[in-house]
Amino acid sequence: MDQKSVSLPTLALALVGSTAIGYFLSTLLRPKQAPQKREQRVVLIDESDLDPITKLPFGRETRAQLFHLKGAQSCFLNHGSYGAVPVMVSSAQQRLLQHVEENPDRWFRRESFQAQKDTLSKLAPFVGANAEDMVFVVNATSASNAVMRSLAGSVVKKGDTVLTSNLCYPACLNALQAECDRVGASLVQLSVAFPVPSGDHFVQIVEKALEENKSCKFAFFDHITSSTAIVWPAKDIVRACRKRGVKVMIDGAHAVGQLPLNLIELDADFYTGNFHKWLFAPKGSAFLWVRRDNQALIEPLVTSHEWKGGFQKSFWMQGTRDETAFIAAGEALRFVELMGWSRMDVYRKKLLNWAVTTLTERWTKRIPEYSQGGAFLACPREMNAYMACIRLPFKDTLEDDKPVQAVANLNPTSSTKANNLMMDLLENYHIVLPIWTFKGHLWCRLCAQIYNSEWEYERCAEVIETLYRSNKYT
Ligand SMILES: Cc1ncc(COP(=O)(O)O)c(C=O)c1O
Repeated sequence: MDQKSVSLPTLALALVGSTAIGYFLSTLLRPKQAPQKREQRVVLIDESDLDPITKLPFGRETRAQLFHLKGAQSCFLNHGSYGAVPVMVSSAQQRLLQHVEENPDRWFRRESFQAQKDTLSKLAPFVGANAEDMVFVVNATSASNAVMRSLAGSVVKKGDTVLTSNLCYPACLNALQAECDRVGASLVQLSVAFPVPSGDHFVQIVEKALEENKSCKFAFFDHITSSTAIVWPAKDIVRACRKRGVKVMIDGAHAVGQLPLNLIELDADFYTGNFHKWLFAPKGSAFLWVRRDNQALIEPLVTSHEWKGGFQKSFWMQGTRDETAFIAAGEALRFVELMGWSRMDVYRKKLLNWAVTTLTERWTKRIPEYSQGGAFLACPREMNAYMACIRLPFKDTLEDDKPVQAVANLNPTSSTKANNLMMDLLENYHIVLPIWTFKGHLWCRLCAQIYNSEWEYERCAEVIETLYRSNKYT
C-alpha cells in the first residue's frame, strides 16, 4: 500500500480494524449460542499510536519518540542480542495483558489457542510459510532444544553423527552436544576458515563433511551467525543435506526481519526464528517451523495436556504461561509495515556500510598497528545484513584454534579482556557493544537499526581510540 496516498486516519482505521487481535477477539468473545448485545474487543493499537509514526525520520527522532531506549547520549549498537521494542508494541502487549487478567479463564479456556493461530496467520506470509506449519516458542534456543531432543533416539541414534559448524551459537551447540551424549551419537563441528572467504567456501566444506560422515543423520546451521554476523547461503546448505537424506535445521534467530524469508522455498526440515530480535516483538516471542512430513516427530520440551494432540496443539498448551509476547508479535509486524520495510532496509544497510568503512578507515589511518593486524572483517561485506563483525585495535591472547565464543551474554569462556572492555564501554562510556576475542585480537559486532545514527558509531570509534592510547587494553 502506498502510505502517502491514504490519509493517516483512514490508514489507522483500516489497520486497527484488521489487527489480528481485534479480529480474533471480536469473533471469539461472541458467545456461540447466545449472541451478546455489545461486542467486546481489545484494540491493541489505537489511532493516536499510529499517527506520528510514518512521518518520523529514522535516527535520533525515531529513537526518542518510538522506543524506550534511555539516555540520549548513549550509543546502543547491539540490537542483535536482545532486540529493542517500540513503545507502541509494548503498549499493545500491556493492553493484552490487562485483557487476560480481566478474566483469565476466558483467555486460557476460550481464546488463547485461536489467538495464537490467528497471529501466526498474520506472521506466516512474512516468513513465506503456511501458518499450520508454525508454532510459537519463547526463543530460538528452546526451538532448537525441542527439535534436537525429539530427534535424539528416533532419527539420531547411537553411533550416528550430528553436524554443525564451529560458529554455531554456543547455547544451541550445548543442546546438540547434550542430546548426542544422551544417545551415544557424535557431534562433528566443521572448522570454518576465519575470516570467512565466501558462502561457496562454506557450502563446499559442508558437502565434504557430509561425504565423509555417512553416519550423519542431522545437520544444524545458523542462517546468520551470532557474534560473527555472517549470512550463510541457507538454500545451498539445505540442498546439500537433503540430497544426502540428512535432516537439516536452520537456526534463523537473527534472520526474521533482517533477511527476506521464504520457508516453503527453502524447504529445510526445521526452521526457527526470533520475532523478538529484528521484528521488534516483545522478548519471549519466537517460532518453530516444521515441514509437514516431520511434524509427527517433534514434541515440545514441556509435555502437557495436549500430548499427542497434534503438532500445533501440543506446542500451544505447555502449562499456564504468559503468551502476550506471542500475540504482540502480530503488532510488531504491523509496526514494520507502518515504518515501511524497504525504507528501513535501505537505511540500515547504508548506515552499516558507512559505519564499517568509517571505523576501519579511521583506525587504519590513526593507529599504525591496526593496519598490520590482518583482516578487518569476519567476512566479505556482501555476507552481512544489518550486523557486521569488525576487528578492534586490541590484541588478545587466547589460542588461535579456540572456537569463537560470544561474550554478549557474558559466556564464561570468553576472555577477561573482552569482558572488561565490553563492561568498561557499557558502564563508563554508555556504549553498548558486544566484544569477544579471536585469532589474537578483540572483535566487536556492530548493528544498524532504524533508531541508530552516525554520531553513535563516531563516538564509539573515538572512545576506542582513546582507550587504545591509554594502553589500558594493550
Ligand atoms: C544463531 C543464534 N541462535 C540462537 C540464538 C538464541 O536466541 P534466544 O536467546 O532468543 O534463544 C541466538 C542469539 O543471539 C543466535 O544468534
